[in-house]
Amino acid sequence: MNILITGGAGFIGSHVVRLFVKKYSGYHIFNLDALTYAGNLENLKDLENRPNYTFIKGDITDENHINTLFNKYRFDGVIHLAAESHVDRSIKDPLAFVKTNVIGTINLLNAFKNIWNEDYKGKLFYHISTDEVYGTLGETGLFTETSSYDPNSPYSASKASSDHFVRAYGETYKLPYVISNCSNNYGPNQFPEKLIPLFINNIMNSKPLPVYGDGNYTRDWLYVKDHAKAVDLVFHKAEHGETYNIGGFNEWKNIDLVRLLCQKMDDKLERHEGTSEKLITYVKDRPGHDLRYAIDASKIKEELGWEPSVTFEEGLEKTIDWYLNNKDWLDHVTSGEYQAYYDKQYAK
Ligand code: NAD
Ligand code: TYD
Repeated sequence: MNILITGGAGFIGSHVVRLFVKKYSGYHIFNLDALTYAGNLENLKDLENRPNYTFIKGDITDENHINTLFNKYRFDGVIHLAAESHVDRSIKDPLAFVKTNVIGTINLLNAFKNIWNEDYKGKLFYHISTDEVYGTLGETGLFTETSSYDPNSPYSASKASSDHFVRAYGETYKLPYVISNCSNNYGPNQFPEKLIPLFINNIMNSKPLPVYGDGNYTRDWLYVKDHAKAVDLVFHKAEHGETYNIGGFNEWKNIDLVRLLCQKMDDKLERHEGTSEKLITYVKDRPGHDLRYAIDASKIKEELGWEPSVTFEEGLEKTIDWYLNNKDWLDHVTSGEYQAYYDKQYAK
């Protein structure tokens, strides 16, 4: 079986690629990634010499290249993670999100459809998406697979659009697909523009911790390796044409999470209690900021037997330790473009 994983040099993709390459020696895993600012082959150094792994540098918006690759390797399965993934960047440059997340996804769907020409036995297109397509919750309630789509940011609108195209290809061309919509991930290898790695990096460097608005926004956090395990299960066991919500059963208000992180970092760095909390700085809110995300993950639990294996306490410890032990990785990814982004995003 030839399996294409897109976006495998990114945060979640690198954990999915590692799990598949190590667990399934009978699959050849092709990792297609454009290596944008968020993609980094250092994430996969340990796999470079594996015989069942090939990296291909390529952009999913490049229709000709995508068609050439599908014709050459005839991918039996696609696990599609490549995306522009950061809400704040989407507010600054929505079109980049339309290009990669919508047009890029359609290029992959077309190429998959063209090589199999309706002979889809044993084939699957697995689209990885986000709970942000459902928009925002109030103080109560959970997103289920039947919640209506109501995206509020250019990022979530582009992901919602790509979900709709995948489903439409299923209905119109009988293309076999599954979609999963996951809550916020955290863990090793996450680019330090997202809340948890950004704040770990800033605490390490004694820089301000920019909390948006009043900090009373809620997210449901899942350890990335538990997401990768869910992807494995969905890819192999899910009913085609279905959607699965994946979540951590783990809601935190941003400000509470940040305080916990500060305490743990003080401990690890042997700083006086309260040192990191002094770095908390309330800044201008994100426009269109969704109040609360929370997932009802009972469908994947009941149908596929998945649930998170790591508690938030354990996951956060592992994550902090990884960043403290991988300062070279942080230094490499925070040079160049990162600094320009940071200065612009957090300018007073
Ligand atoms: P990421 O930004 O860390 O990685 C994205 C990867 O895609 C990078 O390696 C990048 O180089 C690659 N890429 C970007 N544009 C590309 C293009 N045009 N062609 C080829 N490759 C391209 O993202 P992530 O956090 O790992 O998210 C992966 C997927 O999971 C995305 O589809 C995202 O929407 C979804 N998701 C993320 C989260 C989360 O909390 N991070 C939660 C739910 C769903
Ligand atoms: P983020 O990690 O960007 O994920 P998402 O927007 O996809 O949920 O942000 C998580 C939460 O943290 C979100 O409510 C926005 C907030 N946040 C801050 O308060 N300050 C920051 O600097 C960042 C990046 C995020």
